Amino acid sequence: MVLTYFKRFRMEIDLGIDLLTEPQLPPGYRFVAWDPSLLAQHAETKYQSFRTEIDANVFPCLGEADGCLRLMREIVRKEGFLPGATWLVARLGPQGQIDEYCGTVQGIRDRTGYGAIQNLGITPDHRGRQLGSCLLLKALQGFYRAGLTRSFLEVTAQNEGAIRLYRRMGFRKARTVYKAVEVAYS
Ligand SMILES: CC(C)(COP(=O)(O)OP(=O)(O)OC[C@H]1O[C@@H](n2cnc3c(N)ncnc32)[C@H](O)[C@@H]1OP(=O)(O)O)[C@@H](O)C(=O)NCCC(=O)NCCS
Repeated sequence: MVLTYFKRFRMEIDLGIDLLTEPQLPPGYRFVAWDPSLLAQHAETKYQSFRTEIDANVFPCLGEADGCLRLMREIVRKEGFLPGATWLVARLGPQGQIDEYCGTVQGIRDRTGYGAIQNLGITPDHRGRQLGSCLLLKALQGFYRAGLTRSFLEVTAQNEGAIRLYRRMGFRKARTVYKAVEVAYS
């Protein structure tokens, strides 16, 4: 095994009333609020969103279905877990029924009172339609409505598309952090 360091950015944003415009999903999609019965759907959507992405190297659990389930259980058990900042995006069928889930995000109030965004993910077939931006805004609104004034997330430096999205939303780099990961030597 060798130790590899992934460069990551902590990005932060102020939460204000200006964020309260309701995000408009494209036709055929809708938000689904947190409910404990949806834990497995969050985990599966997380897995489908991350399994082939850079973050599955940084956090190996994101590259495994079981790992995503464990991670979801940990997230919802945390004292600061915020249901109002935790959402799925569903793709609707012709009768308006839910055909599949294609986006997930969870929110936690951390010990310093910041709203921490967890693993924003959109499954590959549904990217580039503003779903990620809408879902992130929905989570930020959940933080704001819970009385939080600032939010942060961490993003791997190589994840340029995600960083552009976060910058567009108003997040700014606060600092650089390095995540040490043991990887198999080949
Ligand atoms: C980052 C992510 C959530 C964006 O979701 P999305 O719904 O495509 O986002 P939006 O449509 O709102 O924003 C579009 C941005 O995403 C990226 N994007 C658009 N289409 C894409 C596609 N088909 N594949 C990958 N990224 C795409 C682009 O960089 C785009 O930014 P740009 O317009 O400045 O080029 C999604 O690509 C994803 O789940 N990636 C894998 C998991 C991940 O890395 N999550 C972030 C962890 S910090």
